[in-house]
Amino acid sequence: MFEQYKLPYAYDALEPTIDALTMETHHSKHHATYTATFNTFAEKAGVVGQPVEEVLANLDKIQDEAVRKGLRNNGGGYYNHNLYFSIMSPDGGGEPTGLLKEKMDAAFGNFDSFKEQITALATGQFGSGWAWMSVTPAGELVLSNSGNQDNPISLGTGNKPIFALDVWEHAYYLKFKNLRGEYIKEFFKVVDWKKVEELYKAAVN
Ligand SMILES: [Fe+2]
Repeated sequence: MFEQYKLPYAYDALEPTIDALTMETHHSKHHATYTATFNTFAEKAGVVGQPVEEVLANLDKIQDEAVRKGLRNNGGGYYNHNLYFSIMSPDGGGEPTGLLKEKMDAAFGNFDSFKEQITALATGQFGSGWAWMSVTPAGELVLSNSGNQDNPISLGTGNKPIFALDVWEHAYYLKFKNLRGEYIKEFFKVVDWKKVEELYKAAVN
């Protein structure tokens, strides 16, 4: 049984950046549904008990097309939101520090340049999807985007995501309406860079 990520903060804790109704709907409706549906397909596929990363990295081994598609979309939705919710915090914002700052500056020049690059990927993602910062097998940081609930694992890149930015309309529409760019600008105010650094360190170990 895959357990939904439990928020370590209240639904209104990220106000005014992310409004309480968006957080509650996103977590208790959208993510809860992804989790429940993922569990249904995981049982059908006989992959309950495996880490979700392993399930997503081995989708091509699932013979039944409907089950494979169900795992890809709902396992992706489960994994992606777990990461997204975990890298936000009421104490977030500011800039990366320590090892993460070093690595990000080496990869992207500086923090402003990182923000420009990830924003371009997030705004340029046509329709629903995500923008990512991931760690390559060589320990380098790379940015990407993906449609629907795909991610660097299910796309078979071999990279481990450590930063997820949800650009489905359900992530911002109640407050920001059609202004995806405004939501992205605000999102940086709640990013927990300490958590992202932890994930970086775990990914390279
Ligand atoms: Fe979402």
